Amino acid sequence: MPGVDVMQILQQTVEPYFKEAMGTLGVQSSDYEKLLGLATVADHGDLAIACHSLSRILKKSPVDIGDELSSILKPLLDGIVEVNSLNGFVNLKATDGWIEKHCGIICNDARLGVNKSSISRTVAIDYSSPNVAKEMHVGHLRSTVIGDSLTRILEHLGHKVIRENHIGDWGTPFGMLIEHLLDLGEGDAGNELSVGDLDGFYKTARTKFDDDSAFADRSRSRVVLLQSGDKETLRLWQVLVDESTRYFNEVYQLLGVLLVDDDLMGESAYHHLLPNVVEHLDNKGLLKNSDGADVVFPGGHLNRDGEPLPLIVRKGDGGYNYATTDLACIIDRVQRLGANDLLYVVGTPQARHFEMVFAVAHQAGLLDDSNRAIHVNFGSVLGSDGKVLKSRSGSAVKLVDLLKEAVTRADEVIGEKNPNLVGKERQEIANAIGIGAVKYADLSTDRTRDYMFDWSKMLSFEGDTAPYLQYAHARIRSIFDKVESDSWHSSSLSIENDSERRLARSIIGFADAIQSAYVDLMPNRICIHLHQLSAAFGSFYENCPVLVAEKNEVRDSRLKLCDATARILSTGLGLLGIHAPDRM
Ligand code: ARG
Repeated sequence: MPGVDVMQILQQTVEPYFKEAMGTLGVQSSDYEKLLGLATVADHGDLAIACHSLSRILKKSPVDIGDELSSILKPLLDGIVEVNSLNGFVNLKATDGWIEKHCGIICNDARLGVNKSSISRTVAIDYSSPNVAKEMHVGHLRSTVIGDSLTRILEHLGHKVIRENHIGDWGTPFGMLIEHLLDLGEGDAGNELSVGDLDGFYKTARTKFDDDSAFADRSRSRVVLLQSGDKETLRLWQVLVDESTRYFNEVYQLLGVLLVDDDLMGESAYHHLLPNVVEHLDNKGLLKNSDGADVVFPGGHLNRDGEPLPLIVRKGDGGYNYATTDLACIIDRVQRLGANDLLYVVGTPQARHFEMVFAVAHQAGLLDDSNRAIHVNFGSVLGSDGKVLKSRSGSAVKLVDLLKEAVTRADEVIGEKNPNLVGKERQEIANAIGIGAVKYADLSTDRTRDYMFDWSKMLSFEGDTAPYLQYAHARIRSIFDKVESDSWHSSSLSIENDSERRLARSIIGFADAIQSAYVDLMPNRICIHLHQLSAAFGSFYENCPVLVAEKNEVRDSRLKLCDATARILSTGLGLLGIHAPDRM
């Protein structure tokens, strides 16, 4: 996209002069609102003003208006942009002077031009959210990694973030899980669960439930005991929860995400609120009876037969649903926690669930116009066969295994590239590269799409990968290892060639990339920018000698560009939850 890197700040600079010029021409503001925008042809400039719609008002040809406007703007924008009139368009291209000045401001700014939002919002973000006694699958990996990055981005912009790990820890399956726990003996069951053999545990319990009617009966009575708060049953339930969370924590630690035990707010935490939810919906006159169940019809959703689809909040047997819990969650997050925004980082298949829950919450007055409830949906992770990623045995891939493999593979790559790295440092770097590669492969794809899990692609030092960006960062750090004086700090920038120009423009564009990632909740916007920045740095490094530059001023200016580039890389990667080592 032409000009997109420096677009926003340049447009803000040009805007007042553009308005002045329109005033001089006698055009009303309502007639020129959207005329100044992004140039569509890179060679023509960064911004463009289309004059065609002014023709009717000024009764002149677009070409004449372009020429006239251009001669009014030229003196006003002197030093900011070059102004050219072509075929009814006025094209504006940032001058080197403007680039030097703005890039210089950003180089001197600890926040690299990324300002905190003027209004700080309280955001509850629901992510990771695996299920007790079930393997975390790659969908939970995506949720964890995307949620972690969004948390970091929001906090960086000055918002208050409340992390909610909404684990599935309640409901009818717990009857059979507890009975299976008793059959195995607590010690053995604990062992099985804590090493992460959660799927085996769950599947055996399920098979017993389906095949053994006595077991099924015991399980059903166990659910009743659990619901009624029986002490011993709750204790056994807690064993299941604790062993599973131990395993989840192992995954979180390997991943290096922000989630801690305090963020656990599972389904069980809302259990006591469920009767209130149903009562509230009833008081609002929203509750209907459908085949013995209590339901709400939010409208707008039809089933396969074209009939209105209800959101079931209490089943015929009195049991509550996933949806009831999510409504209770909304009450808790808005009323107790004071959240303005509610984000749910959950896979696309749950889109309808969230649409219906949000609609009911609005109708019931649990959410109002000041709240934003957003399903931050994401696609699937696919194996090389194009199908949802499975392990060789065909079961869900165990996340710890996957992450450990990432680190091992990264260690092999380091062994080839830089065998001098050893010991603890090598371990840390292998960790940063391996885990970084997995996270980046996930975050760099538009989250709403599926992506293919491909070890060799994600670990490559070339292309749109974490190691490529990390390597650019480490390369710059190694330049500074050889710099003795820090006189470059106070030097000013001078842009002399294309490589410097491209790098400086990319430095200016960092703030726009963060803003865009925030507005659309799309971490990949940061990846796109960091990749473009690293590529710009690559050609700069090839064409512009830094330490042996011909003049001191040139060397200092280049060092300044290098320093800002490295800081953007480590800050940007940091917002993705990826570490940027100084050496690799
Ligand atoms: N535990 C659910 C799952 O594994 C995800 C929960 C998402 N959060 C929520 N508030 N519904 O699919």
